[in-house]
Amino acid sequence: TSIPLWAALLGYLIGSIPFGLLLTRAAGMGDVRKIGSGNIGATNVLRTGNKGLAAGTLLLDLLKGLAPVLIAERLGGEVAAAFAAGAAVLGHCFPVWLGFKGGKGVATNAGVAFGLAWPVGLAYAFVWLSVLAIFRISSLAGMAAVVAAAAAAPLFGYPQFFPVLAAIALLIIYLHRANIARLAKGEEPRVGGSKDGAG
Ligand code: G3P
Repeated sequence: TSIPLWAALLGYLIGSIPFGLLLTRAAGMGDVRKIGSGNIGATNVLRTGNKGLAAGTLLLDLLKGLAPVLIAERLGGEVAAAFAAGAAVLGHCFPVWLGFKGGKGVATNAGVAFGLAWPVGLAYAFVWLSVLAIFRISSLAGMAAVVAAAAAAPLFGYPQFFPVLAAIALLIIYLHRANIARLAKGEEPRVGGSKDGAG
């Protein structure tokens, strides 16, 4: 079996489009990397105060995970889909266009999970939204969701996707190390909170 490099390239190229940066720039709000946590994801775009831009970032970052996985699945099957999945998250987290400094992968991985197997995507969305509703902490909800997706894959009958989802989960948790340090100190800002400055 050969490695489907085309699927990895497809995933990386689509995944590396920095929608958070592009949308905030297009809206004339400057560089989102200079505010809050410095991240290019929807959570930090929300710290500009513009909910529409944050929702747009969330949706587009999710779609850029979903699209390459579905395309690769159609053209090359499950192995290709798994490579596109991992590469899309890598593209989001390490985009060549931004000197490899990208986002943390939570929204893109949501799209990836739905693309690989919709029940895994539902588990991801359920855990993400539940933890967000209870604690109102985006990073905590995101980390819980990525772990839930990896666990859900074998439980729901998709063990073939466990390796890529587990690798993505480890990467995403590693990228949240500053958030984890803030969580441990009780200083992680809440979504919609008045003191949300994550920095
Ligand atoms: O997806 C990123 C989110 O989990 C945390 O974002 O800006 O609070 O570091 P941020």
